[in-house]
Parts: sequence; C-alpha cells; structure tokens
Amino acid sequence: MNVILLGPPGAGKGTQAEGIVKEFGLVHISTGDMLRAAVKAGTEMGLKAQEYMTKGALVPDEVVIGIVRDRIAEPDCEKGFLLDGFPRTVNQAIELDKVLASMGKNIDAVVNIVVPDEELLNRLTGRRICKTCQRPYHIMFKPPKVEGICECGGELYQRADDTVETVKNRLDVYHSQTAPLIDYYKEKGVLIDIDGTKTVEGVFEDISNSLKAKV
Ligand code: AP5
Ligand code: MG
Repeated sequence: MNVILLGPPGAGKGTQAEGIVKEFGLVHISTGDMLRAAVKAGTEMGLKAQEYMTKGALVPDEVVIGIVRDRIAEPDCEKGFLLDGFPRTVNQAIELDKVLASMGKNIDAVVNIVVPDEELLNRLTGRRICKTCQRPYHIMFKPPKVEGICECGGELYQRADDTVETVKNRLDVYHSQTAPLIDYYKEKGVLIDIDGTKTVEGVFEDISNSLKAKV
C-alpha cells in the first residue's frame, strides 16, 4: 500500500507516521526530514534548501521531486511507502503521478489530517524534535519521559522554522500552495479526511481504521 499524509504544518504528520509505518509495514519518506539531513550534512543541495526552509518557503519543486524519485526507486519501497510532506504543490503531485506510472505503481490513499490554524501555532511553537531519530514531542501535549531526552536516548531540539513568524509564513504557504491538493485527490477518489484535533491515540485509531478498510 502506498499512502500520502497530507495536512498543514503541525497537523501531526510526523507524529502519526511513526505508528502507521509500524502497523502497515511501510517505509516512511519525509521530505522535511531528508532536507534537514542535507542541511546538517552541509551538502550543496542542503545549503540551497536552507535558504527557503528558514523563511518557511517551499524548496523548488525540481529539488524535492528529484529526492523523492530516487527514494521511491530504492528496493525497500517495494513493500509500500508513506509520503510525509510530499507532494506540496499541484505540480509535485502531477510529477509524482508520472514517476509512479513509469514504475507501474499508484497511490492507494491520501490521509488528510484536518486541524484549525489557531491550534497549529501552539503545537509548533511548543514542539521539540529528537536530533537522532527525528521523533516529535511537545512540551505540553506530548512531553518526553525524561526532559530534553527522546525515548531513543537522543537529545531534543527546537526546529529553526518553529518560531511564531516563520510558522505564520508556513501556514500562508500551506493555504495558497498545498491546500489545492485536497481537491486534486478528492477528484481521484482516494482522499480520507481525518479530524486531527483528537488526542494522538484517537487520531491514530481513525487513520488506522480508514486504511484497514482500503487493504
Ligand atoms: P516539513 O518538515 O514537512 O514540515 P511541515 O509540513 O511544516 O510539517 P511539520 O513537520 O511542521 O508538522 P507535522 O504535521 O509533521 O506535525 P508533528 O507530527 O511534528 O517541512 C519543513 C520545510 O521543508 C518546509 O517548510 C519546506 O521549506 C521544506 N519542504 C519539505 N517538503 C517539501 C516539499 N515537498 N516541497 C517543498 N519544500 C518542502 O506535530 C506537531 C506538534 O504537535 C508536535 O509537537 C506534536 O507532539 C504535537 N501533536 C501532534 N499531534 C497532536 C495531537 N493530536 N494533539 C496535540 N498535539 C499534537
Ligand atoms: Mg513533520
């Protein structure tokens, strides 16, 4: 099964991805995580991407499409994959369709996690991420067992784009460039709307039940 996780910044894509890949045996492909790894490694692509990411803007389509095309072609993706944070523009979605068609694959479900903007700002400004495994926590809603430390033992940090100003830009970018994908996938008959305001466990149960109905 090949699935897309859609939703605004802070909707809980990374949080839910952890459980979904475990339950359905999928490969987690997060373009945000891959871009942050490239930034950290200081590669040419990472340095270019960083200029956009710190402003809360989208990295150019050709860069992310290239990354995803290469990743999907790897053998482990044969068992199915979960795209988190991609596609993010209609152009990316069209290019993804072409890449998948050339491989004889398709998207089985698009899980759209719906959360109002007011809540997203609180979620993102209180978020902490593990430096080692990228797992997201929240100082109020999902605190780690040991302060500042992930379950895997890694150190937690705050993402550079989780400031109030940058989050507002990211939300604007989401509404203007990414939200049109909701209609794009609705028309294809693969969209599943999920209420993302429930607890982490409640949202997971809804996603899991919807996906089970698809397999
Ligand atoms: P990316 O890393 O994809 O960020 P994003 O889409 O902005 O989404 P987030 O990771 O911020 O949110 P999330 O939905 O994963 O929420 P999370 O689970 O962490 O992209 C970053 C940047 O990279 C982009 O701005 C862009 O520059 C670039 N980029 C990436 N992909 C690109 C692409 N395809 N094209 C172009 N550019 C691209 O949860 C958030 C917080 O809420 C956490 O603290 C969590 O603990 C908490 N939380 C989660 N669920 C709940 C709940 N149910 N109740 C209460 N709290 C909750
Ligand atoms: Mg994320």
